[in-house]
Amino acid sequence: MRLWGGRFGSEPDRLVQEFTQSIDFDRRLFRQDITGSIAHCRMLGRRGIISADEAAQIEAGLRRVADDIAQGRMVFDHALEDIHTHVESRLRELIGPVAGKLHTARSRNDQVALDLRLFLREVIVDTVSLLADLQATLQERATDWHDVIAPGYTHLQRAQPVLLAHHLLAYHEMFSRDADRFRDAYRRVNILPLGAGALAGLPYSIDREFVAEQLGFDGVTRNSMDTVADRDFVVEYLAAASLTMAHLSRLAEEIVLWTTSEFGYLTLDDSFTTGSSLMPQKKNPDVAELVRGKVGRVYGHLTHLLVTLKGLPLTYNRDLQEDKEALFDAVDTLLPSLSVTSGMLRSATVNAERLREAAAAGFSLATDVADYLVVRGVPFREAHAIVGKIVQRCLATGHTLSDLPLDEYRAVCPLFDEDVRLIDAWASISARDVIGGTAPRQVDAALAAARQATEDLREWVSRQRTWQSAHDLLVAPA
Ligand code: ARG
Repeated sequence: MRLWGGRFGSEPDRLVQEFTQSIDFDRRLFRQDITGSIAHCRMLGRRGIISADEAAQIEAGLRRVADDIAQGRMVFDHALEDIHTHVESRLRELIGPVAGKLHTARSRNDQVALDLRLFLREVIVDTVSLLADLQATLQERATDWHDVIAPGYTHLQRAQPVLLAHHLLAYHEMFSRDADRFRDAYRRVNILPLGAGALAGLPYSIDREFVAEQLGFDGVTRNSMDTVADRDFVVEYLAAASLTMAHLSRLAEEIVLWTTSEFGYLTLDDSFTTGSSLMPQKKNPDVAELVRGKVGRVYGHLTHLLVTLKGLPLTYNRDLQEDKEALFDAVDTLLPSLSVTSGMLRSATVNAERLREAAAAGFSLATDVADYLVVRGVPFREAHAIVGKIVQRCLATGHTLSDLPLDEYRAVCPLFDEDVRLIDAWASISARDVIGGTAPRQVDAALAAARQATEDLREWVSRQRTWQSAHDLLVAPA
């Protein structure tokens, strides 16, 4: 049966019902939908648009609907299209025709925008919280592995030695920027859309500020047409989520590489690996591979929503319903990816010996030999060419930079002394004592700053959570 069917002569085709329904996924928004409705009906009551008694009946009824859904007592039906209609129809079953007054001065267009914004603001806080957890894990590991030397790569060729902690803190930076992006998006999410009506505003003396204050929004939207057409805030979440997934996938890829026997730098705990159904010896990094592999879903959802919005005429169009599954799946992909990456790192062990050997091998100290000459007055470009020749000599004679005889060095450039053969990875690392460099002093400072940044994030998370739960009208007494 049609709920809003006065003008129709026939029921919708079954196919149409199946094709247009959103209840299969937007039921996930029931709490947000009902919370928004409670704020709306309180406002209607205060403004005398409905009576105080009606408002109280509706609010009490809405609480029962929320309870019914939470307890699994709601039967979902494609004929009732979406969550908004389900809530209203159950409300009518519970409190009778007065339920019909709830939708005064409201449209599903501003209602669905409200539900999404309420949903997203919780999700953003959860996302930032998990980013903070992952950062804390990186800090822990950077502390545990404080003196571990690792090869730093460019082009996946050994380049210069670094502290493993420095490598880990590189990811910490990425996740800090991610957290910033989510927090920034939050400012634009936490604005009340209700009051836009279908698109043009409403012919009642509603009080949007009151509703905003009830729900803990920082303000109200300024243009009703933009309000019902806007999904930028979902795009922003998906964009920030995409970059976060990019960062997770780079980390995951390094974990996959580093746990191979070819690299052998890292060992994952058994609890974060899987076996092969055929090869008994296998211990596979499937968790890391899946994190890497799930990135495409999130990029896909971002592209999907951008394409949906492109060229869409104002204002609301049903195309916008496509935002929800994209958003939900992105959230359901990102949050577990963050948690599982953290767990995987927390339980991993490193092979410090192998890392150290790899860091010094492969002429990783060649730049330091060039810098040695620079200190002795040779222009860097020339020093670069000289050391190139030295490397060539080593390759021809099967030597390394530290065991090539001094006269071989001197044959190329007389400025070399015995101490050139003392240059080692630790000296190379300690020398890079600039802000952002890998010298232990710098890494310690970076670690301290990282701890503070995570503290700030946690503080933000707990402030938003407290604020949001203080404005959770379903939990707070009427
Ligand atoms: N299910 C719809 C959506 O997600 C709710 C809004 C419906 N509005 C409308 N005019 N049909 O966008």
